[in-house]
Amino acid sequence: MNYKFIICNWKMNCDQEYFNQINSILSNYTIKKEYKLIICPPLTLLNQENIINFEIGAQNCASEEFGSYTGEVSARMISQSNARYVIIGHSERRKYFNEKPELILKKMDQVMDNNLTPIVCVKRFYEDKEYIKNLIFNFISNVKTKNLLIAYEPEESIGSGIPDNLYSIQENIESIKDIYRNHNLNDKNIFVIYGGSVDKNNIKEIISISDGVLIGKASINLEQFIQIIKII
Ligand code: PGA
Repeated sequence: MNYKFIICNWKMNCDQEYFNQINSILSNYTIKKEYKLIICPPLTLLNQENIINFEIGAQNCASEEFGSYTGEVSARMISQSNARYVIIGHSERRKYFNEKPELILKKMDQVMDNNLTPIVCVKRFYEDKEYIKNLIFNFISNVKTKNLLIAYEPEESIGSGIPDNLYSIQENIESIKDIYRNHNLNDKNIFVIYGGSVDKNNIKEIISISDGVLIGKASINLEQFIQIIKII
């Protein structure tokens, strides 16, 4: 099925109260079958009961399976919560926590080995070409995971209110897709989504040229969120 993914990245924002509010709002809508709505709240909110019309994702995980890594949470631990997706390598992790592609690929292995779906963030194609190739081949060679989401997110568009232009979004997405198009993926799927200042006004157009969106700010603004839900 050709899904369109709507991923909400709450970053270090919101609380249980906002979660409950969102959950009760969503119970009043029917999300179209082709859309998959995924909410990625902070780690403390991953274990939720009776969620309606959406799934849960984490925003990060450790690169190791277990051990003396104070403050870290492993993909295995996340797999024991309600989360089924994990965002890895977000550009804020690369910028503020100095995460390098090698480390992100290790995290990706952890995510896939624990039957979770990775949502791997990448920058512009020309900046991240080798890394994008590596992560696609890493996915293709993993026997457990069926789906990979790659979020194309140009750094300057994140949180700035200025999304990338449609032509550039399309160009970057096509370049990513060109890497795996000639590989026989059998029952594997790669979805390429866009993130960076997506909001209620531009989401329709962006979804029409991508496999979905990763939304930060607009997903934690109730008015924007409701408008987005009405669209999907
Ligand atoms: P933004 O964030 O929608 O606030 O630009 C997107 C992201 O960080 O993934």
